[in-house]
Amino acid sequence: MMSQVVQRVVTGTPGLDKMLHGGLWPGRLYLLIGPPGSGKTTLAVQFLLEGVKRGENVLLVALTSPRPRYGRTSDRFSARTSTRYAC
Ligand SMILES: Nc1ncnc2c1ncn2[C@@H]1O[C@H](COP(=O)(O)OP(=O)(O)OP(=O)(O)O)[C@@H](O)[C@H]1O
Ligand SMILES: [Mg+2]
Repeated sequence: MMSQVVQRVVTGTPGLDKMLHGGLWPGRLYLLIGPPGSGKTTLAVQFLLEGVKRGENVLLVALTSPRPRYGRTSDRFSARTSTRYAC
């Protein structure tokens, strides 16, 4: 049987994609943990913007950060159903 190459999901952060050998595994759930100001939200938004750039549907669920922090970016997400999620 031929082996199948699984296409990685590019995160939108080139250095991280390199460390991950191309990106995240599709269909997996990832939990990003770090102290305040370490870049969790920035990484999540970069991930979603990469999806938008690629014509994918994305969804941002923000439970603690106030909406204005995401500025106009969040407006681009609001009417879409999702293939990429960041919570
Ligand atoms: N618009 C901006 N311009 C410049 N620096 C910013 C901007 N937004 C965030 N930062 C800085 O980038 C770094 C990462 O911020 P980010 O909000 O991604 O961290 P975080 O891990 O999500 O923090 P928290 O746990 O408080 O939600 C912080 O030092 C923050 O002050
Ligand atoms: Mg945050």
